[in-house]
Amino acid sequence: MKKAFARKADSEGYTYIARLFRAVSEAEAVHARRYLLLMRGKIGSTEENLETAFQNEINANVEEYPKLIRDASDEGKESALKAFSHSKDVEAGHAELYKKAMNDMLADRETDYYVCQVCGYVAEDNPPDNCPICGAVKGKFKPVK
Ligand SMILES: [Fe+2]
Repeated sequence: MKKAFARKADSEGYTYIARLFRAVSEAEAVHARRYLLLMRGKIGSTEENLETAFQNEINANVEEYPKLIRDASDEGKESALKAFSHSKDVEAGHAELYKKAMNDMLADRETDYYVCQVCGYVAEDNPPDNCPICGAVKGKFKPVK
């Protein structure tokens, strides 16, 4: 987001503001690297990490997004309500993918993934003609290697 803000500031001639957005973006990357170091001891086996990731997606679907949806609804913010609703459904899909991967790991089955660049929905094997969450066309799906 900060990089997009920086590009906009540059295009409007506010190079010093663009520099601030890039500096804060870089600072947030520093935070991310620092937190990753803190988490190192908490990274388990891949099987354990799949379970952790599954639980995180369930929590987002059941607790975090419903609250955001209620707040957006209460405040009459239709765009935010739609985005949070899509994200809630996408998180449920991610949880299913993790659950499936836990089983596939034992079967040694490989899967190709494609991510909707509009809502974050993840499709397996092939991109759909239209995203089942947001309706985006096939061309909006990016393959993940
Ligand atoms: Fe989508």
